[in-house]
Amino acid sequence: MNSFFCQIPKAELHLHIEGSLEPEMMFVLADRNNIQLPYKSVEEIRAAYNFQNLQSFLDLYYAGMSVLQTEQDFYDLTWAYMQKASAQNVRHAEIFFDPQGHTSRGVSFETVHRGIYRALQEAKQQLDISSYLILCFLRHLSAESAMEALEQALPYKDTIPAVGLDSSEVGNPPSKFQKVFDKAREEGFLTVAHAGEEGPPEYIWEAINLLGVSRIDHGVRCIDDPKLLEYLIEKQIPLTVCPLSNIKLCVFDSMAKHNIKQLLDMGLCVTVNSDDPSYFGGYVAENLQEIESALNLSRQDIYKLVKNSFQATFLSAEEKQTRI
Ligand code: ADE
Ligand code: ZN
Repeated sequence: MNSFFCQIPKAELHLHIEGSLEPEMMFVLADRNNIQLPYKSVEEIRAAYNFQNLQSFLDLYYAGMSVLQTEQDFYDLTWAYMQKASAQNVRHAEIFFDPQGHTSRGVSFETVHRGIYRALQEAKQQLDISSYLILCFLRHLSAESAMEALEQALPYKDTIPAVGLDSSEVGNPPSKFQKVFDKAREEGFLTVAHAGEEGPPEYIWEAINLLGVSRIDHGVRCIDDPKLLEYLIEKQIPLTVCPLSNIKLCVFDSMAKHNIKQLLDMGLCVTVNSDDPSYFGGYVAENLQEIESALNLSRQDIYKLVKNSFQATFLSAEEKQTRI
């Protein structure tokens, strides 16, 4: 790893905490919780990380998170990520969690939240990284289930500034969750949504017009709709792009074919993020390094991308200055 990519201050805006579960920790937690994994070694787990599309990844992602059972497990997972982020000079992180992936297995919302949030508070004190939590609704489940997750989150509202939408995109458009997002905005949550990862540009329009999002997660398929491109440029709606994820999930055939440089040159507010770093082979610094070499990015391009990452945070203008 070239130290430039580690050292440059950056914000991470698209990181699923459950997707930072490294195989080594998966074994430790499986042991601790008496869970039998269908793998014999760390190498065997990594070898299984060969995906054809988003769904083939999600199947392993949900299976992997079954080792997370106790508050301490969620704390350990989150603390490990924050240490990694600190080593890459991430100054601020906005972190997704998937409560329905846990409550559906009998782990309480409170257990999940307490473990994650305690690690984030300690990271602020000990590592000087600020963070926000974003609750993601699983879009392959019903709108009623999402509403239930929102109700469970209300007592913790002060510690969760935003809600998002993730999981299986195609066939689960943002419109399915319009009422849930209406209620979330009424309650004071900001909103984001995964859209245009595998799904069409119409899903990006829906996220903007029906869910009132402040950012689009992924959004790379906006390239297929000139009117949408114009709108995203004019409004400077940020896209949280995840290059290594897009290659591992076959959204693009190779990094050389990724459209992030094209979007940046057109004037969109694009940012670089890691999505599920344990599954996709790299954290934010590796993502920056990979696109630089595959797409011939200049240092100016890299500066613009990290500047955009701070611009796109939910921090106030003054807070942004203190984090950079
Ligand atoms: N959950 C975790 N990673 C995801 C991704 N890249 N797309 C949709 N849902 C996800
Ligand atoms: Zn994601």
